[in-house]
Amino acid sequence: MGKVGLGLAVGCAVVTCAIAAALVSHRVRRRWRWGQAVTLVRELEEACDTPVGRLRQVVDAMAVEMHAGLASDGGSKLKMLLTFIDNLPDGTEEGTYYALDLGGTNFRVLRVQLGGKGSMMSHKVESQPIPQELMTGTSEELFNFIASILKRFVQSENDGFQQLPDDRKDLGFTFSFPVKQLSISSGVLIKWTKGFSIEDAVGKDIAQCLNEAMSKIGLNMRVAALVNDTVGTLALGHYNDEDTVAAVIIGTGTNACYLERTDAIIKCQGLLTNSGAMVVNMEWGNFWSSHLPRTSYDIALDDESPNRNEQGFEKMISGMYLGDIVRRVLYRMAEESDIFLDPAKNLSVPFILRTPLMANMLEDDSPDLTQVGRVLEEHLKISRVPLKVRRLVARVCDIVTRRAARLAAAGIVGMLKKTGRDGSGGVESGRTRGKPRRTVVAVEGGLYIGYTMFKQHEVLGGLDISIPNQMEPLNTKLYEKYKNLKKRKFFAEDEWNRKRDTDLRSYQSAMEDLIEEMKNANERLRAELYSFQEQYANCEKSLLEESQKSKELSDEVGRLQNLLLKKNDISDRSVMSSPCTIAGVMSTEIPKSLPRQKTPDLCDETSPIQNKGAATRTYDNHKVETKVPDCCRRNMVSSSDASEDCCNCVFQTLMKLLVGMDFSVNRQTESLCLLVVHKMSGYSFSLTWIPLEGELMYRVSSLGTLERVALDWMKEDVIFSTAMCRVFFERVSRVTGHC
Ligand code: BGC
Repeated sequence: MGKVGLGLAVGCAVVTCAIAAALVSHRVRRRWRWGQAVTLVRELEEACDTPVGRLRQVVDAMAVEMHAGLASDGGSKLKMLLTFIDNLPDGTEEGTYYALDLGGTNFRVLRVQLGGKGSMMSHKVESQPIPQELMTGTSEELFNFIASILKRFVQSENDGFQQLPDDRKDLGFTFSFPVKQLSISSGVLIKWTKGFSIEDAVGKDIAQCLNEAMSKIGLNMRVAALVNDTVGTLALGHYNDEDTVAAVIIGTGTNACYLERTDAIIKCQGLLTNSGAMVVNMEWGNFWSSHLPRTSYDIALDDESPNRNEQGFEKMISGMYLGDIVRRVLYRMAEESDIFLDPAKNLSVPFILRTPLMANMLEDDSPDLTQVGRVLEEHLKISRVPLKVRRLVARVCDIVTRRAARLAAAGIVGMLKKTGRDGSGGVESGRTRGKPRRTVVAVEGGLYIGYTMFKQHEVLGGLDISIPNQMEPLNTKLYEKYKNLKKRKFFAEDEWNRKRDTDLRSYQSAMEDLIEEMKNANERLRAELYSFQEQYANCEKSLLEESQKSKELSDEVGRLQNLLLKKNDISDRSVMSSPCTIAGVMSTEIPKSLPRQKTPDLCDETSPIQNKGAATRTYDNHKVETKVPDCCRRNMVSSSDASEDCCNCVFQTLMKLLVGMDFSVNRQTESLCLLVVHKMSGYSFSLTWIPLEGELMYRVSSLGTLERVALDWMKEDVIFSTAMCRVFFERVSRVTGHC
């Protein structure tokens, strides 16, 4: 049983070790997975890095591409589209204007009443999301929808607004997609962007499409100006500040326009305008340069987009895509590192993480990043995200946004560089009469307006590049220092974690070895245990059988003893009549009424026993086997004067018949001593006559095979009176089973 206990103890130890190892291994796995996630973020950070040197290359590439785009149609990925707008509003405008803005996720109709001197007397705006199905349906469906909304808006107009004499209203149509303008009020769609895809509209005159839709529903209105949203922003900027020379949109999509000298627009030689300049819609969303920091996530996003290889710059900057880049990074982290406890299935859904949500996460400055947790839980169905993972998520948002903002800034600087307003070219490019020329860039768009952080990055990125040359080395140094510090802080914990991972791994492997050893020991002990159990079961079985046998034997002994008793009674009765009875012993015992029967004549020559050595006779209806003693047989054939011997012999034979034991006289002792032997069992004892007392002393010599059944008194010296002889021999006979 000691071994059983040991086996159990070993078993328990193994189980404990296994649990410990499982826990350790789980922790190691988790640490390893966390390490994986951190590595992914580190790689992303490296791939998205936009040091000043790289931004400068982007700036130069932008300026070069602008030149190329102005030189010829198709000369660059930058379309550099003419707008036919050479005069920008200056605040003197008066009257009521209707405008329509289509280009992002929302569609807006508005009416403004300008009172001159830069004042806006009143305005009304109605905004409506564009149903998804219209973004990919037919041009007719889209323009019918727009016209109907517009009609409802116009009909709800206030009577106080000034009406045109012929009642026909002019409409400014801001259409924020690449359009090749034919005139100020017409232009054909080159391609769709930002998730719109209405194939039959490509190549059509957009203004005409809307005019037709309006006239179909009886709305007396005509497109008087077809403009890009950047141009609208520039116009508004210029209306407010005359130094505004460029406009940038950073919203669902991104683009820029600026005022260019007509003589610089080489692809339109001879273009004449009153101001000598024209607003050029750059369509910079399509800008591309090998210097752009492109990641595997950008490539995947582009591959899966409806406009593959188009709008590369836009796909790194605009609100349409930033959220999805972050989603792709998080998805990969979830796939490869399993840092989110919940299955992050929603992360596999394209565009589920919209940029405003991403902005919420990035701008979360609460100590425990509550917003990050909320966005993950409510929008991505990832709950119970630990703080360190939330930090990592915010970090991803920051990396992706930082890159976007800095690239946008580089784009602006590139545009200013092209126009000689980046402050690098001295008097010719940026100064007049020693004074720096003031340059204002109007920036609009949901991402820029609603994204504080984006603005900060943009400013930071812009400053890096546009400040005077002598400051640049210092600034570069500062930026690098700032970046390294931030990196070091972020990854210090990671280093520590790595070390811990290594320690845990070696601990785990030691544990595994130990477990292996213990398992082997356990198996060995178990085998031993089984064999012990088997032996134990066999022993138990044998014991049962033995006790069964013993019981049977005891029964048999009892039965035989009973039988013996009965037979003794019979013998007693038959021996009573023998001439060899010891009168002194037996006289009181012999019942007088016992019928006297003839005892077998031991010396009868004619007896049939003499011939055969043994015969069976019947006494008292019992069969008794009698034997002729050897001495008699000898005497019968030899002399007749051996009467003393014969007496002894007869005496002994009688005694044997009486008690079933051999008697002999021990002649070596002084006192009379009889030796009694029960041959069958080997039981022997002596009976010594104590003359003075008239008693006999019983002393056992050997119990023989009666060892087990012998009564206690048989093992001791017993003195008893001769009167008890019969009782003594009865009791001895019961044990020896004599019959
Ligand atoms: C379009 C531009 C537009 C910009 C911002 C881009 O996708 O191509 O025309 O100005 O988005 O709305």
